[in-house]
Amino acid sequence: MILVTTAGKVGAEAVLLLRQQGVPVRVLVRHPDTVQGLKEAGAEIATGDLDAPASIDAAMAGVTAVLLVSPGVPAQEMNVIRSAARTSAGHVIKVTSNASADSPIARRRWQTEIEAGLTASGLAHTLLRANAYMQNVLALAPAIAKTSGFGSSAGQGRVGMIDARDVAAVAARIAAAPDAYAGSAYWLTGPGLISYADVAAVLSNLLGRPITYRGLSAEEDRDAMIRAGVPGPVAEMNAQAFSMIAGGDAAWVTQDVPSLLGRPARSFGQFAGDYAAAFS
Ligand SMILES: NC(=O)c1ccc[n+]([C@@H]2O[C@H](COP(=O)([O-])OP(=O)(O)OC[C@H]3O[C@@H](n4cnc5c(N)ncnc54)[C@H](OP(=O)(O)O)[C@@H]3O)[C@@H](O)[C@H]2O)c1
Repeated sequence: MILVTTAGKVGAEAVLLLRQQGVPVRVLVRHPDTVQGLKEAGAEIATGDLDAPASIDAAMAGVTAVLLVSPGVPAQEMNVIRSAARTSAGHVIKVTSNASADSPIARRRWQTEIEAGLTASGLAHTLLRANAYMQNVLALAPAIAKTSGFGSSAGQGRVGMIDARDVAAVAARIAAAPDAYAGSAYWLTGPGLISYADVAAVLSNLLGRPITYRGLSAEEDRDAMIRAGVPGPVAEMNAQAFSMIAGGDAAWVTQDVPSLLGRPARSFGQFAGDYAAAFS
């Protein structure tokens, strides 16, 4: 039995991929009514909360591998790691980022803290260090649909952007037979580097109307995200990340996705085509 915590962008897709292979999978969620599709695909639904260790212990029964993917809050993810260690859950696959202890972005320092906790737990584990998700662009979709334009403080910075479905595909591949991947870290990216000007060009082509990209200062970007409903601290960290993209921080591409999956990583064009309805 594989336990997936939680059913976000990566977790939900990984659950579906594992079920397509007939692998027994359980997913821990706070709101079981929102994951009817996963239940229909044959996943066990464990109602729980990452802040409630007893609910995680209950979900851990009979588990041989854990896919740990959640907002990356140390107290919450350490609850999962401690529960996995208590119940000898075998192997933890952790989705993380280009994290470091001295990053100016708090959530990257938190990821480093979680990774250290995972190492200290003695559990076999695999790290999936993902570049920025293409799905982040969906946050801009309402503005694009309404105004045919969007802004960002990412400047002309280029990103090895990855489709979160490919992160899920790698996670599912490893979870199904984790032993060969113990102790490894993979750097997951899309097939190439793209800038937000490139994003605008792909969307213009797809939608058949010009989509304009305008540069914002980090402060303007943060304030726009807050106006769009992003909590202040998250908007602050996002704006920091976009400023770092402008400086080249996300301009890295690897071949880890094709090496692990035996097929190319999805391009931004493929992603945009699959999500076209959101932008129109
Ligand atoms: N976005 C990026 O560009 C990017 C890039 C690299 C790495 N990452 C990493 O990817 C991870 C995030 O993965 P993701 O994008 O798949 O996440 P996501 O789509 O944001 O989903 C997070 C899930 O966590 C659930 N959740 C939140 N609090 C919870 C709690 N207390 N108990 C149980 N469930 C809870 C949410 O469910 P409800 O709120 O509905 O309950 C949601 O389903 C993070 O570790 C991040 O660092 C992201």
